[in-house]
Amino acid sequence: MALRTIVGFSGNLARPSRTRTLVEAVTASAADRLLLGSAVHDLEDLGLSLGAARRLNDLDAGARAIVDAILAADLLVIGSPTYKGSYTGLFKHLIDLLDPATLAGKPIILTATGGSDRHALIIEHQLRPLFGFFAAHTAPTGIYATDRDFQDGRIASTQVLQRIDQSIVEAGRLLPEAGRARLLLAAE
Ligand SMILES: Cc1cc2nc3c(=O)[nH]c(=O)nc-3n(C[C@H](O)[C@H](O)[C@H](O)COP(=O)(O)O)c2cc1C
Repeated sequence: MALRTIVGFSGNLARPSRTRTLVEAVTASAADRLLLGSAVHDLEDLGLSLGAARRLNDLDAGARAIVDAILAADLLVIGSPTYKGSYTGLFKHLIDLLDPATLAGKPIILTATGGSDRHALIIEHQLRPLFGFFAAHTAPTGIYATDRDFQDGRIASTQVLQRIDQSIVEAGRLLPEAGRARLLLAAE
């Protein structure tokens, strides 16, 4: 099957958002390396119908289209700000609407931002088990960034940029054959 898109989704509740900036950077870099189309969305894009929804069919057409794009993506880049030591509540509400089977085997790069380094393990202790429930295939390297990793709305930390590169290489290995071939092509 031909590879289609990389979709980034950020669980930020406010804009401008460092989490969205991080998800955009990872998504753009992965799309560049894998020669694929890409799109990035966040909770703001989903709008107000998400909060009231008790099932996917309750979402309005715009929100449903974003969820469908997430489910159809060949590679996901997921991010959330750390809120009280975990992902944001509204992000979890979105995830709760998904059928458990719909993310099985999906390659995912995990990212998060926080106010301090103390919560860097949100990726290992919160996000990875959440997507483990879905039997998704998460790249081993997660990317966590704090305020000081950003400058002028961009990622300024060499360490974070290196982790992005590493996670993309790992995600390439999780892709079906067609995606891996593109990764090799892009690396030449
Ligand atoms: C309600 C709330 C709770 C937060 N809880 C934490 C926390 O537990 N640990 C942490 O490191 N940062 C915490 N923060 C800081 C945010 O995670 C941090 O500023 C993040 O980068 C914001 O992302 P955004 O710019 O995408 O909104 C909290 C912020 C808010 C508003």
